[in-house]
Amino acid sequence: MRLDKYLTQSHIGTRKKVHGILSEGMVTVNGQRVTDATYDVDVNMDQVTCDGEIVKHAGTVCYMFNKPQGCVTARSDEKEKTVLSYFSEEEKGGLFMVGRLDKDTEGLLLLTNDGALDHWLMNPEHHMEKTYFFWALGELSEEDVSKIESGIDIQSQYTIRQNERLNKSDMKETKITKTAKLQILKQGMVHEFADEIPIPLHDDQVVSGLLTISEGKKHQVRRMLRAVGCKIFQLKRIAIGELQLDESLKPGEYRRLTDDEIGKLYKINIREHT
Ligand code: URA
Repeated sequence: MRLDKYLTQSHIGTRKKVHGILSEGMVTVNGQRVTDATYDVDVNMDQVTCDGEIVKHAGTVCYMFNKPQGCVTARSDEKEKTVLSYFSEEEKGGLFMVGRLDKDTEGLLLLTNDGALDHWLMNPEHHMEKTYFFWALGELSEEDVSKIESGIDIQSQYTIRQNERLNKSDMKETKITKTAKLQILKQGMVHEFADEIPIPLHDDQVVSGLLTISEGKKHQVRRMLRAVGCKIFQLKRIAIGELQLDESLKPGEYRRLTDDEIGKLYKINIREHT
């Protein structure tokens, strides 16, 4: 493993900080000063020190983060609060986000330093299912549900927010979504669910539900609902595959996954996807 990766995974600091520490000559491997970030370390055999202290390799880690609304899935951003800003400097080292959620989407986001886990989860052939809870303005008929479940054209739903357009590669994506599962939870007028609806609204028709998809087109859930005339005003990811968001985590909180939960992520979904 590269020395810079070894140090970031051992929570010495961000990649930038680690490179600084290396160039200052603070790191030794088996007693020899090493400044080359690409130096190949044997995790089991070599002894690494930083500023005279032995650095034990911390191994891989995966965090479940309950993303709050309003923060962006990015390492850094000039204007907005980012997901990584919720983590301490030590924890951030080597950590990256698995996939992304829109700024306004809340809920389950995984962060890991484990490239193999990331590849596994992001591999489209694994059809990793993601389940979202939503509240939307509008109504869903049985026909709408069956359209969404059997695959719906979302190509024309390209203006999600004013001034926001998909880039060229998004426009080239297949326009029909893969099969999905949609369960309506509540449907009626705003006043009937006033204590459950998170924002003040006029007394309009609203619907809540659970939508499970197995792909990740840009703004996919919002666009799928838009394609049948509904406008989402709350979206929360509650599960990835069999892994459920721990509801005891408040927005902005996170914890490490247990071994059992990591095992759940490696279960392949055998449902047929077209
Ligand atoms: N679908 C969306 O529309 N937004 C997300 O953040 C995730 C899925």
